[in-house]
Amino acid sequence: MITAYDATFARIVDESGVDIILVGDSVGSVVQGVGTTIPVTIEEMEYHVRLVARANPKALIVGDLPFGSYHVNSEQGVRSAIQLIKAGASAVKLEGGTTMYDTIAAICRVDIPVMGHIGLTPQSYHRMGGHKVQGRDFEGRDRIIEDAKSVDAAGAFATVIEGVPSDLARDVTQTITIPTIGIGAGPHTDGQVLVLHDILGLSTNPPSFARSYANVRDIAIDACNQFVRDVHDRTWPDSQHSFQ
Ligand code: KIV
Repeated sequence: MITAYDATFARIVDESGVDIILVGDSVGSVVQGVGTTIPVTIEEMEYHVRLVARANPKALIVGDLPFGSYHVNSEQGVRSAIQLIKAGASAVKLEGGTTMYDTIAAICRVDIPVMGHIGLTPQSYHRMGGHKVQGRDFEGRDRIIEDAKSVDAAGAFATVIEGVPSDLARDVTQTITIPTIGIGAGPHTDGQVLVLHDILGLSTNPPSFARSYANVRDIAIDACNQFVRDVHDRTWPDSQHSFQ
C-alpha cells in the first residue's frame, strides 16, 4: 500500500502495480505542511479522495477518516464513511481498537469495507505525548493485541499496524484472521505501507523507519534552478519553444 493525494501521483503509484492506494490523513503533514494529522477535516479528505479517484487506478482506493469525523459516535462514523465512498473511495480506514468496535461494525453494516489502524495511531498524538513507538511494555503489548482482536471481530478486512516492535507485529499477525499492513512494525506483517513522499525522498523530515528510494526533492530543486538560470540568461524560451 502506498499513499497518494492527487491524480498525478495516483497515476504514478498505480503504475507500480501496488494493491492499495491510501488517501491518508498524512496529507496534513506532507501536503498541507502541518505538524500532525489532527487539523485535517472530512471535507479536505473528501477533496483528496476525489482527486485520486479521477486517476481511475486499478488499485483499491482507501480513504482515511480524519480526527473528529468518527469519534462522536458510530452514526457520525457512518456518515463520514459515506462521504468518502461517494467521493470515490472503495473502503475507509480509521484509527483505534477496542473503543472503535461499534463504529467499525456500524460502517461494515452499511456495506462499506473498513481497514483498521492500531499501535501508533497519529490521531492520538496528545494522549501518546507525540509520535512514539507503542507496545514496548507488557501492558501496552496486551492492549495492542486486544485492539487487533477487536478490529478483526468488528468486521474490518485488514488493519494497519504502526510503530510497534517487530515481535509484537508478528504476534498480532499470527493471532488475527485479517491481513496486517505494517509501517514501522518490522518485516513480519502480511503487507507494508509507506507514505509516497517518504518513498520519493520529497519529505524534509521523514520518520526513521521510512526509506527513500529516490531523491526526487533534489531533482526537482535542480530542474527549477535550471529554469530560473535560463530565464536570467535569456536562453529561455528558445526558438524551438516559441511561435513564429
Ligand atoms: O495517513 C496515512 O498516510 C497513514 C499511513 C501512514 C498508514 O495512516
